[in-house]
Amino acid sequence: MKYSLFFLLALAGIICCQTGCRNQAVNTSFNPFDYSIQKTISCTNGAVVSAHPLASKAGVMMLEQGGNAVDAAIATQLALAVVYPGAGNLGGGGFMVARLKDGKTIALDYREKAPSAASRDMYLDSAGNPVMRLSQHGHLSAGVPGTVAGLFASMKYASLPFPELIQPAIDLAEKGFTITAAEASALNHTQEAFRQYNTSKIIFIKHEGWKPGDTLVQTDLSETLKRMRDKGQKGFYEGETARLIVSEMKKANGIISPDDLKNYEAKERKPVEFTYKGHTIISMPLPSSGGIILQQCLKIIENREIGKMGFLSAPAVQLMTEAERRAYADRAEFMGDEDFVKVPVHTLTSDAYLTKRMSDYVAGKAGNSQFVKPGNINPESEETTHLSVADKWGNVVAVTTTLNGGYGSKTVVSGAGFLLNNEMDDFSAKPGVPNMYGALGTEANAIEPNKRMLSSMTPTIVLKDNDPYLVVGTPGGTTIPTSVFQTIVNIIDFGLSASDAVNKPKFHHQWMPDEIFIEKDFPAGVTDSLKEMGYTISSRGSIGRTELIKIEKDKTGEGYILEAVADKRGDDSAEGY
Ligand code: DON
Repeated sequence: MKYSLFFLLALAGIICCQTGCRNQAVNTSFNPFDYSIQKTISCTNGAVVSAHPLASKAGVMMLEQGGNAVDAAIATQLALAVVYPGAGNLGGGGFMVARLKDGKTIALDYREKAPSAASRDMYLDSAGNPVMRLSQHGHLSAGVPGTVAGLFASMKYASLPFPELIQPAIDLAEKGFTITAAEASALNHTQEAFRQYNTSKIIFIKHEGWKPGDTLVQTDLSETLKRMRDKGQKGFYEGETARLIVSEMKKANGIISPDDLKNYEAKERKPVEFTYKGHTIISMPLPSSGGIILQQCLKIIENREIGKMGFLSAPAVQLMTEAERRAYADRAEFMGDEDFVKVPVHTLTSDAYLTKRMSDYVAGKAGNSQFVKPGNINPESEETTHLSVADKWGNVVAVTTTLNGGYGSKTVVSGAGFLLNNEMDDFSAKPGVPNMYGALGTEANAIEPNKRMLSSMTPTIVLKDNDPYLVVGTPGGTTIPTSVFQTIVNIIDFGLSASDAVNKPKFHHQWMPDEIFIEKDFPAGVTDSLKEMGYTISSRGSIGRTELIKIEKDKTGEGYILEAVADKRGDDSAEGY
């Protein structure tokens, strides 16, 4: 689609979907200056749920043009890089899990990697103490970006030409869009950091502050996107964009080199696949810990009749907490990039091992993580983003992508207009010292040149009777696998609606610190019961922003009914037709 047509589609208003949608008016307009958020829709032709309405719309536009779920996922990610700069990205990394209509399953790894000049102790001071400022902010915190390589690697499964998929993003960057209240607030909260970690004036800095409804135009970013459109992957990892990244690095002790960029490769991995109560779960393998943690947690509870205990009952929360505690202890000890370290994945996920892991579990009595050092969870805003897509042919795609912290390193590549990640903090800067999510790690996740840092991102697909059933994922740092775990159990075991499964209160335990984190609306009575069992409970801000599509066969058995739910916790929006 040429952008003139894209802007022809910019018709404000609500158009009632003619063929696909039940009961709801679906907003298929595409006016970047006048749009609204939809939390749930039900459709038959295709659906996209993402962190921003304009990005979801960009994806649906591709579906309407005959593209498949992979086309929509690519267009949505590119649009997120423009309209959701806190987490959508070109300068970060991510994972795609997909299941195609022919049954093929895919796990695509485009996680950032450590630059070749990185070294194990690069964030330690002369006394051997980690300097978190260096791993969490500014030029040195950035890993080699993987997202653009991931987008081009997923083109193998797309059906529309890349120039069409990238055009909405180019238009949104070049002509601008109005920002939401949440974006204005997030930008305002980051002004000081933007000033501190940039060497030139950047578009996100606004002296008088951002207001909801302000227009954000990103000219440099639109030129970067055009170089990708015209030159493909080389338009980012070589030539002008690569030159701009390397010259940015040189301004403040960054170490990403031209060869790091040129040699970056996305990798297809074997997905984590296992069964849970007759369903097939497909999720992300290492270098994400997400799929393994999800498998451990689900397998631990599978034969314990959790459904009968009841949703958010104290016994159910306790059982899930104890599963989470054990999975996160294993994460800290064993998990890292399998291309560099040997990880006993088979043992960690075997029935015998998991049965043994629970041999000291006592219903009604809190377990103990043998607290050595309390984890130190940084209150800084967390930003990653997930999108779920389903098309009318039965292709389903789950993508989680991130800059790590909100607006990543806070450093924009001058002249190229995009933020760099601060993903190096996901390595274990020093064994036994928690990172910004309080996650502990050991040698398995120590820094090595070209190694990928351990992630928690858990893009996941669930099949029922060998047909797509759920597409799910979320941001949230270490809380990601537990949110996905809870969303799946909420549906399969507790029989919650898709909307309740996403929006009801969540909780989280990650072994260290030995506390159950709960959202503010977590029921007080359950909190009291858990305290009586011996648990320490900490109330925190929202947990995750889960994007879910639930898929059911229609009456003919030929087509699908897609119920898409965008998390209430943000600007997230479900679109479809
Ligand atoms: O890969 C990871 O696990 C983290 N970098 C994800 C960070 C994250 O989810 C922040 N967001 N809410």
